[in-house]
Amino acid sequence: DTNVTVNPAQLGFTAVAKNKLDVVSVPTGYKVQVVNRTGDPIAAAVPAYKNDGTDTNFAQRIGDHGDALYWYGLAATGTARDATSSTRGLLVQNHENINIQYLHPAGPTNAPAGPRPEAEAIKEIECHGVSITEVSEGTGRAWTVLQTGALNRRITPNTPVVFNGPVKGSDLLKTVFSADGTTGRGTINNCANGTTPWGTAITCEENWAGYFRRASTDVAGRTAKEITALTRYGVTNGSTNPVGNFGWATVTPADASSTVFKRWDARVTGASATADFRNEPNQMGWVVEIDPYDASKAPRKRTALGRLGHEGCWPGAFVVGKKPAWYMGDDSRREYLYKFVSATAWVAADATAADRLAIGDKYLDSGTLYVAKFAADGSGTWLPLVFGQNGITAAATYPFADQADVLVHARLAADVVGATPMDRPEWTAVNPVTGEVYLTLTNNNAAGRPLAGTDAANPRHYNDPTGAAATAQFGNPNGHIIRLKETGDTTEATAFTWDIYLFGAGADLDAANINVSGLTADQDFSSPDGLYFSRPTNAAGQVKPLLWIETDDGAYTDVTNCMLLAAQPGTVGDGGARTITNTGTGGVTATQATRVGAAPTAATLKRFLVGPVECEITGIDSTPDGRTIFVGIQHPGEGGTPAAPSSHWPDSQATGTAGATVRPRSAVAVITKNDGGVVGL
Ligand code: FEO
Ligand code: CA
Ligand code: CA
Ligand code: CA
Repeated sequence: DTNVTVNPAQLGFTAVAKNKLDVVSVPTGYKVQVVNRTGDPIAAAVPAYKNDGTDTNFAQRIGDHGDALYWYGLAATGTARDATSSTRGLLVQNHENINIQYLHPAGPTNAPAGPRPEAEAIKEIECHGVSITEVSEGTGRAWTVLQTGALNRRITPNTPVVFNGPVKGSDLLKTVFSADGTTGRGTINNCANGTTPWGTAITCEENWAGYFRRASTDVAGRTAKEITALTRYGVTNGSTNPVGNFGWATVTPADASSTVFKRWDARVTGASATADFRNEPNQMGWVVEIDPYDASKAPRKRTALGRLGHEGCWPGAFVVGKKPAWYMGDDSRREYLYKFVSATAWVAADATAADRLAIGDKYLDSGTLYVAKFAADGSGTWLPLVFGQNGITAAATYPFADQADVLVHARLAADVVGATPMDRPEWTAVNPVTGEVYLTLTNNNAAGRPLAGTDAANPRHYNDPTGAAATAQFGNPNGHIIRLKETGDTTEATAFTWDIYLFGAGADLDAANINVSGLTADQDFSSPDGLYFSRPTNAAGQVKPLLWIETDDGAYTDVTNCMLLAAQPGTVGDGGARTITNTGTGGVTATQATRVGAAPTAATLKRFLVGPVECEITGIDSTPDGRTIFVGIQHPGEGGTPAAPSSHWPDSQATGTAGATVRPRSAVAVITKNDGGVVGL
């Protein structure tokens, strides 16, 4: 890319200290603004949000738990795309989950056991999904949202969607709602994201399984194969939650013909798949493509990319004549890293095609889904998940019937080929200069990563006592970031090399075996999650791309709120081999060899931002000029109650406090530099 000069750029800010303040803290010389708070109206005539639990009509408001977000530029006026715009655009944001206690005046009624009131369930459902809003920069670098933006849009779990790719029309997708298995309703638990050069947004369905009603004892009328699949994906809920996370299936709607609640009931109650909702869980767990510039087009579920607990879906480099790829984490303990390689080589003119979702059909509906296997010597392989190959056949323990079955049950196919179980694969990010792929492995516990169960790619087992009582926390409670270099630097590769870029840890922990990356107090973090390289071209004629690392701390929230760090990483192999001595209960030790990247320095890794109380730092994107970044602040005050919220952010942003009963809201923090320069440099 001729726009990029790979020369040293300095991280031009002073590190932000760890803290537990109820504000978004940024370096001196930076400004925080807040847009798109939970409940903000995004259509004409929708009343302002009262934030007292009485508000309704969330299908026309910003949803809760904003997670990944991405900027899509607009021309100066109208609805046309302008990918270069840094002052007017669309923010596409995921709304992953809800803080149910703040959505109702005194908390929810009968949750989750039921019977749940219809009006409460409607609000909760509509708080999930995706929002698209028009945002722009005005004078004084003030960012505002246009409530009446022509492309403003909510996609909720009730929005009509269509299925594309090999699973479209499969018996596995047939339900009362879609007798031919080609359509569905909405999307849920949208976590991280992806994008395309043709201007569409990709959203991913992560922890969808828990919303469905089905006890683990609910096996009558099911085949052994079905039960294996439901269990593998967690559609069991068990004895503690047999009605699903929020008990929506327990609603008796005023309109008896409505199925918007019943569809969350996955129990077998009819004579066939199209007589009940047993297959409804198969309609979730996909990657979904949305055209943010055309509200008339239904989102398309891209089944060729497999059904997982999809965290994110980030593309590799687009090279003319080469087949593009998307890298995908499946976030659960001991799940895998996947890659989808399109069947079609990239044609540059497709980036500006008028029918964007038709270009999606071209690149995302046929191709090969691979899963990663990491070897101890720093090499690795991409194993294809193709019916009839490598044991993925009718003779497998879970007998596969066809490629649709393989894609619906991609986790089971990945088990067959011997993929490497990871410490919770979250976001992927791709260095726009080198093409190297980064993957956050947020953390794991002792059951998921026991002392005797480490491997080179998931090498640590230790105790990081945390919390007021210093509760023992064995396993890999701080997580790590692994990175891959594709053989031949091409997305089409079936092999790669890898090393571990960073290990999460407190700076006070054992430097030999736990704080392996040697993090200082200006750099230390736990549980990396969001991960993003800012765009390489900007007004400053940039330089090395910045890597932004967001945390969802499992083991460090006794010391600090979650955070955002900026980094300038090197390349795979810039470090070397290393042996870690792990320690389990009773002081028992074991060694594990691994591959570790060069340690960060004060110049290559710094804490840029700390969030408010009980939040997670989620989505991030910058304008193309790099002068504005948008950061998702998710679920502040998630542990509080309506009577005693544990955070009051964003109302607390200015002073650190707000009225004692002011409810917290997820929101997007807009960060700009007072001198007008590129954020981070
Ligand atoms: Fe929704 Fe794995 O984070
Ligand atoms: Ca999240
Ligand atoms: Ca995440
Ligand atoms: Ca997380």
